[in-house]
Formats: sequence, C-alpha cells, structure tokens
Amino acid sequence: MVTSLMLPRNLRVGGGAIEELPDVLARLGSTRPLLVTDSFLVGTGLAERLLAGLRNAGLDAGLFAGTVPDPTTDSLVAGVRQVQAHRADCLVGLGGGSPMDTAKALALLAVQGGEMRDYKAPRDNRGPALPVVAIPTTAGSGSEATQFTIITDSASDEKMLCTGQAFLPAAAIVDYELTVSMPPRLTADTGVDALTHAVEAFVSRKANVFSDGLALTAISTISRNIRRVYENGEDRQARKAMMFAATQAGIAFSNSSVALVHGMSRPIGAHFHLAHGLSNAMLFPAVTAFSVGGAEARYAECARAYGVAGEADPDALAAGRLVEALAVLCKDLDVPTPQSLGIEQARWQELAPLMAQQALTSGSPGNNPVIPTAEEIEKLYAQIYS
Ligand SMILES: [Fe+2]
Repeated sequence: MVTSLMLPRNLRVGGGAIEELPDVLARLGSTRPLLVTDSFLVGTGLAERLLAGLRNAGLDAGLFAGTVPDPTTDSLVAGVRQVQAHRADCLVGLGGGSPMDTAKALALLAVQGGEMRDYKAPRDNRGPALPVVAIPTTAGSGSEATQFTIITDSASDEKMLCTGQAFLPAAAIVDYELTVSMPPRLTADTGVDALTHAVEAFVSRKANVFSDGLALTAISTISRNIRRVYENGEDRQARKAMMFAATQAGIAFSNSSVALVHGMSRPIGAHFHLAHGLSNAMLFPAVTAFSVGGAEARYAECARAYGVAGEADPDALAAGRLVEALAVLCKDLDVPTPQSLGIEQARWQELAPLMAQQALTSGSPGNNPVIPTAEEIEKLYAQIYS
C-alpha cells in the first residue's frame, strides 16, 4: 500500500516570518507577484506594508483586493482579469481561508480558462497553474497547506470542493503575529475549524501514519490553547500554538481527508451564510456521536490526545468522553444553534433534503467512519437545529 503525500515546497513558520516574503518569492523565481487579499487587510495597512516590501526588493508587485468571504464564481471574474493584466507569475494569497482559496482558484483559471465548476470534485486537478504563496491571518482553515479550494457557484449557491495538486501552495508563510488582533468570535470559529480538520483527518477512511501524527499533535495543542486565545487574544504563546496546530491540521487533512462534519457544514454555509467554523461547531458534537460506532478506537485516541481520557480507559468510554468534551467546548465558546441565530425552522426543514444531497455529492461523507444515508443526514440537521 503506497501513501501519496503532498506538502508546500517551502514553509516559513514563526513570529515575524512575513518579513521573509521577498526571499520566498525570489526562490520561486517570481518577479511579478500579485497580492490577492480582501478590503479588510487593505484597511489595516498590512497589504500596503507587504507591497512596499516587495517593491523595495525590486519586484513588480500588483494588488487584487476584491476577494469576498466564501468566494463565489462571480467574485473570480475580476480577479482573473487582474492576474492577466498584471501578467503575474505568482499569486500571494493573504488572509483567512477565503483569500487563500481565491488565490488558488485564480492561479488555475488564469492559466487554463473555463469556469470553476469545470474543476469541481471528483475531478483531480493537476495543473498547469501559477505558483501560490499562502499567508494565513487566521489559525483555522489550513488552506496554506492543502490541495483544496472551496468556491461557491453563484448560479446555484453550491459550495464546490475543488481538489488536486494544482491547488497546493508552492510555499506558505505561517506567522502567528498576524493572528493576535483577531476578535474572539473569529478566533473561536477558526480554532474549531482547525480542531475539526484534525479529528476528521484522524478518523477518516483515508487516514495514514503520516497524517495521524500531525492530527493527534494538533488535537492535543488545540485542546490546551483554544480557550486561552478566546479569552485573551493577546496570549501570544497560545496564539503561536494555535497557529502551528492549524497548519499541522491542514497538512493532515490535505493528506487524509475531512469527513461528515465538513460534508454537512458546506451546505449550511452556502444557504445560510454562516461562518465555516461556526457551522462546523454546530455539527461537531452530534456528528461525532453519530460516527463513533464506526471507529471507536480511533475516536478514543482523539479523546486521549484531547486530554479527556487516559490510556487505561476502555475505548468506548474514551470515545464517549470526546463527544461530551466537544459539547462542553461549544458551550464554552458560546456556539449558537441555528434557532438561536434566528434561522426559521420551516426554512431549515425545507432545505434539509437539498443540503443532504449536496453533502453526499461532495464526497466527504464517504470518508466518514459511518457512511450515512441521505435520511440520516437530514435527521442530523434536524437534531442540531435547536
Ligand atoms: Fe474546514
């Protein structure tokens, strides 16, 4: 049995790593990079600071600041134009998951043309595409290290999972200092997203020894630090730990997979426009309870890494403790229910069959320890409503 592993060629990890962007680009042979980011990071001055650094280093750097949260196919049109007008030879994706995912999509579209829906899973996208340097400003999506991009089809509201080596960044700069100013809600949501990546990578049917080690380390680190960063964003030690763990979890799920939580979370995000980490958090305890029977020993290992079970605890007990711990975590992080967010129950029920279908079509539920039917997915949606 051969395991295929893919990682960025260069990872620069540590406080202040962002200063090394010109060197990272030089090593990729780039002279005309395009910074792909959002208006928020233009507003903070970070985008301009990076551009000035690149220009001082003699690079002809351009800017595309039109990325949107949960990027849509419509939002990519201006980006492709910008990449081509600048004759960019490399894209620098700066921000949370959305700008990084946008940079990955543009890198492929600008070279190959067509529409993003032509490239959605199960298609395996190999390139050619421009190289991407990913710079996360949240400790969550792991997109800096994954071979995935998620783009919403503007015509259907479907959150399309697009996969393959073409979307793997050539390099990533992982600088926790960029996350210190994140507000508590974003901190919690992105942190739970990273924890979900780690747990799903570990229990996935595609798990392997390489992804296992990274996943368990990430689970352990996140469980010890996520409340700390939620309560005190200035806790730099905890911010650093969360940032590393989010990237480790990203490498883990990129080389294994996510599973049912993510499969069910994407349709919620698409139809109700909730933050990705938040819809994950809403689903995480219930979906884990549904899934433990399919891989009790694996969930027990997660519980031990999380710190809620010991080596001597039987697997069934340990796995149950993980489910309880996730429910407690959601409570501590003030995760709302769809109902408490004001989503109408009738609308929720009406969309559940479509969301279940879209979840199954993404393929992620097929990696889950228990492979659900559409009916079971609908029941889980009903269960988490209130
Ligand atoms: Fe995620």
